[in-house]
Amino acid sequence: MSQALIIRHAGQLLTLRGPAEPRRGRNLQDVGLISNGSVLIRDGAIEAAGAADEIERLPLARNAEEMDARGRVVMPGFVDSHTHLVYAAPRLLDYEMRLRGADYHQIAEAGGGIESSMRALRAAAPEDLEARARRLIETFARHGTTTVEAKSGYGLDEHAELKTLVVLGVVDGQPLDIVPTYLGAHVVPPEYAGGPDAYVDWICAEMLPRIRRQRLASFADIYCDRGAFTLEQSRRYLLAAKQLGFGLKLHAEQFTHSGATEIAVELGAVSADHLEQADANDAALLARSQTIATLLPGSVFHLGLDRYPPARMLIEAGAAVALATDCNPGTSPSCSMPMIVSLACAQMRMSPAEALCAATVNGAHALGRAGRVGTLEPGKVADILILDAEDYREIPYHFGMNLVATTMKHGVVVYQQGRVVDTVAEENAGDGR
Ligand code: NIG
Ligand code: FE
Repeated sequence: MSQALIIRHAGQLLTLRGPAEPRRGRNLQDVGLISNGSVLIRDGAIEAAGAADEIERLPLARNAEEMDARGRVVMPGFVDSHTHLVYAAPRLLDYEMRLRGADYHQIAEAGGGIESSMRALRAAAPEDLEARARRLIETFARHGTTTVEAKSGYGLDEHAELKTLVVLGVVDGQPLDIVPTYLGAHVVPPEYAGGPDAYVDWICAEMLPRIRRQRLASFADIYCDRGAFTLEQSRRYLLAAKQLGFGLKLHAEQFTHSGATEIAVELGAVSADHLEQADANDAALLARSQTIATLLPGSVFHLGLDRYPPARMLIEAGAAVALATDCNPGTSPSCSMPMIVSLACAQMRMSPAEALCAATVNGAHALGRAGRVGTLEPGKVADILILDAEDYREIPYHFGMNLVATTMKHGVVVYQQGRVVDTVAEENAGDGR
């Protein structure tokens, strides 16, 4: 017997239905809104989503278990396509240094930055990394994320990078889907200081083939910027990764304009991420490609900078824009896609509809998973949110607030909003004892 569930009478059902390609231009504005909509789920997959009266008439709906979403927004789970979720400790010293005026590169030169995360991760026991990752994954689920990409890149030697990727494999599916990416080329580790090319040679010759053989990562990523890797090194690394069958991602044009977007498009990368410094030429290149422009406004916000990625220019040129948290201890310590959606609207002038498309279906495209997640269409996985909101525009409007009431993964509730304890009432009850 198959298991059926119906989510009934959503005030606003956002199906995100539409073309199978990445959403761009006017298509980015279409959230597939149905007023008074229902979703029918069979064995963890979407059977049908549409107007409540049509869905109610389906034979499967008759004996289905019911959830009432009356007056609420129902939408697909967020697909967070760029995070660095395995790390050993927050970087609170960096944070305070920055508040006193130091910038990202000065902090790194003073012994903080990515290298301090590397030292902490190398020293950490796998069980501790796993426990911390699990707590973070719960926080993702509470904020409505159902699929999370996660990068290595705080290990930077063989043992610590493999330790990170193994943790990602262990937590995958518990309960969120984790998409692993190898970011061995995050920065040059101290063992190779003065010899970055030798480091790139080593990761190309040893690490990439090994990770591929052991199926520890689907994507390979590189940080192409000042203080990290050059354009030539990035090209060499990405070509090696491509030959081995990895999907490609890049940290591109974050602090300086390096030209990384050009090689992303040339090599058919699935996404070029950050793009704070992207120019009109980059936008035109992305528009003519299948490479997703993944914007990470959380890192600009947390670093206290004012140059957000040029979302309007990218969208108007025709690039397919996605949004992600970049959750990491250095530049964006947040799991909240709703907050990212708020930043996208307030700081980058995306409309709420564009931001939600970018945070769901285009995020799925940035992970090559658009056939499975990102929309509520028949056959897709039932990764669904019920929000404590009557209108989807409330999601960005109430910045820093979490309106997620229920998160469902594969048709199973994995998070349900808790209640606020009424302490006055409880104290009174205590008095009477
Ligand atoms: O995406 N800039 C490179 N990587 C990360 C930051 C990593 C860190 O500072 O720990 C980013 O912003
Ligand atoms: Fe990043």
